[in-house]
Amino acid sequence: MDHNKSIIVLDFGGQYAHLIARRVRQCGVYSEIRDANTSAEDLKNAAGIILSGGPQSVYDKSSPQGDPKIFDLGIPVLGICYGLQWMAKVLGGDVKQGEVKEFGKAKLKVESGKWKVIEGIPEEMTVWMSHGDEVTGLPEGFEQIGTSDDCANAFIANTSKNMYGVQFHPEVVHTENGQMLIENFVKMCAADPWSIKSYTDLVSESLKKEVGDRKVFMLVSGGVDSTVAFVLLNKVLGEDRVQGLYIDTGMMRKDESRQIDAAFKELGIKNLRMEDASEYFIKKLKEVYEPEQKRWIIGDAFLSVQKGVSEEMDLKTEDGWMLGQGTIYPDTIETGETKNADTIKTHHNRVEAVQKMIEEGLVVEPLCELYKDEVRALGEELGLPHELVWRHPFPGPGLGVRILCAKEESVVGDPLSVVGGIACAALPIKSVGVQGDGRSYRHAISLFNDQKFADENCWALATSIPNTSTEFNRVLICTSHDSAPEFVFSPGYVTKKRADLLREADAIVHEEMVSAGLYESIWQFPVVLLPFGTTEGGQSVVLRPVESQEAMTANAVVLPQAVVSIMTERLLALGKVDLVFQDLTHKPPGTIEWE
Ligand code: XMP
Repeated sequence: MDHNKSIIVLDFGGQYAHLIARRVRQCGVYSEIRDANTSAEDLKNAAGIILSGGPQSVYDKSSPQGDPKIFDLGIPVLGICYGLQWMAKVLGGDVKQGEVKEFGKAKLKVESGKWKVIEGIPEEMTVWMSHGDEVTGLPEGFEQIGTSDDCANAFIANTSKNMYGVQFHPEVVHTENGQMLIENFVKMCAADPWSIKSYTDLVSESLKKEVGDRKVFMLVSGGVDSTVAFVLLNKVLGEDRVQGLYIDTGMMRKDESRQIDAAFKELGIKNLRMEDASEYFIKKLKEVYEPEQKRWIIGDAFLSVQKGVSEEMDLKTEDGWMLGQGTIYPDTIETGETKNADTIKTHHNRVEAVQKMIEEGLVVEPLCELYKDEVRALGEELGLPHELVWRHPFPGPGLGVRILCAKEESVVGDPLSVVGGIACAALPIKSVGVQGDGRSYRHAISLFNDQKFADENCWALATSIPNTSTEFNRVLICTSHDSAPEFVFSPGYVTKKRADLLREADAIVHEEMVSAGLYESIWQFPVVLLPFGTTEGGQSVVLRPVESQEAMTANAVVLPQAVVSIMTERLLALGKVDLVFQDLTHKPPGTIEWE
């Protein structure tokens, strides 16, 4: 869509590009992410340009480079971390490896009252740093406006040209007043105002143009994104030009299909067909163990069921039928869609066959420019009920990515038994994580204590273990045992039996979360099934409550001890669950889902 005067974030390879764009949107200005090497010609209508951070050194041969002509456009520029270093180097300054690498919190000192960009910022504040290189010589016209103990040029500016650079990351919450700094920069850009209300009109117009006189066949999961997209399409195009399809994959939550059917009926929506394809999906996943392979299979299975139904209903591409999807902005990035981002997970709506259809112009994704909270605001704008809009997010592949699969026990090279004074044991499985902007596939480690509950020490280890070890990317606390039992591993893939067990476990957790009044404060609460227990065929269950805003980063939630204990007790009473854990890992280094 054409957003006239917006702020463009050039992505130099950091996963934080999303946080920057979101921060800008919170200031009421549209922002989107583009490749680092986008030409100055393509950026000439931007109101402002932000250069993101990135993991490389500007001197690395393969490091991402932008178009130096962007500095001649007369548009305000803000460089962050790598973005600052690249800007300084291109404009004739010096960048060298710093004497000290700065990671984590640092004190920034500025001379307030002197520069507009730091209006309202105190003279000393905590900022978040993550860098090895630093700017050692300023380009002409630049002056230093802020320093930290280990970095002289932590904040620089060329006020006459409206160019600014910060070595720290104003977009992360650990930087005090980060939002205010970004807002100060945004104020200097002559950007058009943006809000979800104005966007609703804009997206409606653009949908009409994109779809033309064609019709849309839309996969609806009952989750927030696809529901909002479906209702929007219905409103803009009319029900007779939209056909919804809900596929029961056999990996839905307990009673979910019935609830979704009822919710849509309540909304008066008649163009949604319910299709039970559970046997087909489960069959396709037989003996599949590798997480990415599972995702590809699930994505393809969605397409083949959709194809079968569209043939049966005679909805052909030749007759102008397109595929609709509820893809949101971050889904397009975590799959590795921007050039400099690593593939963390292939989202089900970004598998190869879908990518091909996108290239052929056969896919419409009305929400692909929005973040989750904006999708929710749009849902409210469309008049959807609160319970639907504020449902916890649920991944397209459903419980499929929460039933951990493994063919053989995964052995740890260096099994620890005590760490930081706490008993621990490596678990015989691996899971996906995200570290240093890349994908990791490593072991989980569990801590054990007498309370069967995470104390401060455990939470500290949840951060320090993945930071220092190359073996582990997840840290759990065992909530069912006070010391490590002998683990009995049973090879496991997705079966109906395991899906049924996880459905029951998930329903128990959901019920207890709601009755403890925690549903609104927790962002998402995956429950994960692991293929080992203490008996032959026994399984483990992991509680994974997180707080997040947009799923790019997340914090593991501290649950009340009484809630953990009742959940654990009820899960053990299911009979086939031998062990219960809570995942204490934040994202990064863990991801929200395990696969
Ligand atoms: P991760 O596990 O990457 O998840 O931290 C981030 C958010 O995305 C959801 N998720 C998916 N959603 N299709 C989806 O529609 C998928 O394939 C998929 N994989 C993960 C996840 O539940 C979390 O909210």
